[in-house]
Amino acid sequence: MSSEHDTLSVDLGPRSYDILVGEGLLGQAGPLVAPVMSRPRAVLITDENVERYWLETVEDSLSAVAIDFQTIVLEPGEQTKDYAHAETLTGQLLDLRVERSTTLIALGGGVIGDLVGFCAAITLRGLDFVQMPTTLLAQVDSSVGGKTGINMPQGKNLIGAFHQPRLVLADIGALDTLPARDLQGGYAEVVKYGLINDAGFFKWLESHGAGVAGGSENRDVQAQRHAVLTSCRAKAAIVAADETEQGVRALLNLGHTFGHALEAKTGYGDALTHGESVAIGMAMAFDLSVRMGLCPEDDRDRVKKHLSGSCLPIDLKGLRNDGWSASQLIDLMGQDKKVAGGKLTFILARGIGQSFITDEVDLADVNGVLEDYLKT
Ligand code: GLY
Repeated sequence: MSSEHDTLSVDLGPRSYDILVGEGLLGQAGPLVAPVMSRPRAVLITDENVERYWLETVEDSLSAVAIDFQTIVLEPGEQTKDYAHAETLTGQLLDLRVERSTTLIALGGGVIGDLVGFCAAITLRGLDFVQMPTTLLAQVDSSVGGKTGINMPQGKNLIGAFHQPRLVLADIGALDTLPARDLQGGYAEVVKYGLINDAGFFKWLESHGAGVAGGSENRDVQAQRHAVLTSCRAKAAIVAADETEQGVRALLNLGHTFGHALEAKTGYGDALTHGESVAIGMAMAFDLSVRMGLCPEDDRDRVKKHLSGSCLPIDLKGLRNDGWSASQLIDLMGQDKKVAGGKLTFILARGIGQSFITDEVDLADVNGVLEDYLKT
């Protein structure tokens, strides 16, 4: 399989690394990873879903360049991203006698990437790791930027570390084996980049979105590649400007303040995926922006039309939300990381591609938006 690819750089001084975007990269994993390894020793960690499609391809490629490796296969699903699994995994790594020069390879979606990255950050005070994201969500968001972590009963991603990978391989071919719902969920994060600061990209998505995340009859590998590349370029620029989220990086949380509350309320399960919660959260953020007189209604309507036309939810219909209240949801938002001095931070928009960060939001407006959603 050929591996013609584009290369982007995340510019972080001594922690800089490349993101490679293309087709066939997993089949070339060995030769692509070898140059960033201090020694040819790795532990490859994946889950049972990815094992079925891609593990052999990656293993063969590592063997072909004489990388010595062991493989650990975890059960799939968000529940794997917790303290118990981090404890087990770090114990397995120590039993395998990993050394500071061993590289961990995370082959999978966001759960595998976040968990493996976190274990890399804390094992022997820091191992190198490489991201091989196999979902759209991981390719355009979680594999880039060094946020690693696990979920706690108190909330999502509340224990973690900033630990940058040494390389990211985003193989567009991996999207072929992705269930439609996962592809659509990842697409919410793609749309997010257009909404943050790239109205031209949003416009492009309005006409090419079906090629990126539509049914298999519409899918277009070139459109997927352009979308992943544009998203990673946007994320790389924001991360390079603000690695540890002291400021501008918070823009990447558009839709997430609302979204995390919805995920917490629905139990981080199948009822609502992360991407779906971000889609509803972005719709809510635009509704709040309109309610505060910041954003034209036409822009809000375009955003919602595109999200729902891409099979993403933009309301709470279909969720079992009896007994939910706006104040409960606001309370859950307060348990998120996006709280400073007890004040919630919101990402709002003056229009498509004109997002900004603020903590100047009247909770009565947030309450009003949520009440409207709970009525539907
Ligand atoms: N997913 C948001 C960030 O990486 O900052």
